[in-house]
Amino acid sequence: MKIDGKAWRTIWLEPDGRSVGVIDQTLLPHRFTTRTLGSCAEAAEAIATMVVRGAPLIGVTGAYGLMLALQVDPSDASLAAAFEQLNATRPTAVNLRWALERVRDRVLPLPPAERAAAAQADAGAIAEEDVAMCEAIGEHGLQVFQGLAAARPAERQGQPFQVLTHCNAGWLATVDWGTALAPIYKAHRAGLNIHVWVDETRPRNQGASLTAYELGREGVPHTVIVDNAGGHLMQHGQVDAVIVGTDRTTRRGDVCNKIGTYLKALAAHDNGVPFYVALPASTIDWSLDDGVAEIPIEARSAAEVTHIQGRGADGQVVVVQLSPDGSPAFNPGFDVTPARLVTALITEQGVTPATEAGLRGLYGRG
Ligand code: MRU
Repeated sequence: MKIDGKAWRTIWLEPDGRSVGVIDQTLLPHRFTTRTLGSCAEAAEAIATMVVRGAPLIGVTGAYGLMLALQVDPSDASLAAAFEQLNATRPTAVNLRWALERVRDRVLPLPPAERAAAAQADAGAIAEEDVAMCEAIGEHGLQVFQGLAAARPAERQGQPFQVLTHCNAGWLATVDWGTALAPIYKAHRAGLNIHVWVDETRPRNQGASLTAYELGREGVPHTVIVDNAGGHLMQHGQVDAVIVGTDRTTRRGDVCNKIGTYLKALAAHDNGVPFYVALPASTIDWSLDDGVAEIPIEARSAAEVTHIQGRGADGQVVVVQLSPDGSPAFNPGFDVTPARLVTALITEQGVTPATEAGLRGLYGRG
């Protein structure tokens, strides 16, 4: 996608052919900066501190992290240590483990001297596949949105098609296009009169900072709302559909996404608003069934709750404290929305009910 007329991806191989460039997402929307990751440790740190974030993007960053480790030491021991270091950074998004396992299994049978180059090729392939999957999600989601918009009552036809989204599942969370935002970009480009309600998404505000930034750069009409406003809007007929991403999807269609997603699904269910989840194949964990019982939920720093980052009147990015000294805070990063609350899953293979039969049929795993 473009920023100020220039096409960007979130991650790339630098011209030196060895190191990896990324957009630093910690300072957006106030500062656009990039970083160069020159070692496995730097890749791990970038994932852990959310310089890069979003399930697909941390998978690609992990794959490049293995390449960086193998450039220095291509031994089995080095590969195993890098795998552990990267895999420990963020526990919920399964894309990270998926990408690490794919690269490890690709390079392990090779002579050590060939491993770094093979890891580089596979990391690049994972990135390209992610772009293609996200664009395909966009095409399938576009058809869903067009169908919903056309089915609205005659008196609503002239009004914007209203979509609510949570967190950031846009191109910044992937390599390009995004998952939940890809259908929105496709719809906007196809001329659908679309408006997006953007949940701010406390505590790190990926909605207010990243989703609003992306939509603004693409010229998509949007409005930032506090996380608690969605239910009210749905009760008053101001949301035609909800669409979110997912960090891990179980084989029966339970979806784990940014904390607060579950409450939006409950409100959507209560108000008859369709609730869609957009995902690439790399987000499905076929080994898990019951998402609430089985998906590990990342516990993040209490400081993300007690403090907030923004731009001060002098233009500097500052962090301020919200809660009293001494008040404890708890910060689970994700929650699970049971499949029964999901209207459909929108994947690169097409659209399916959130059921094991539906997913198996779509991916030929019958
Ligand atoms: O903690 P984050 O910012 O990495 O969480 C991101 C999300 O929850 C996204 O919605 C999810 O990764 C799907 S993104 C394509």
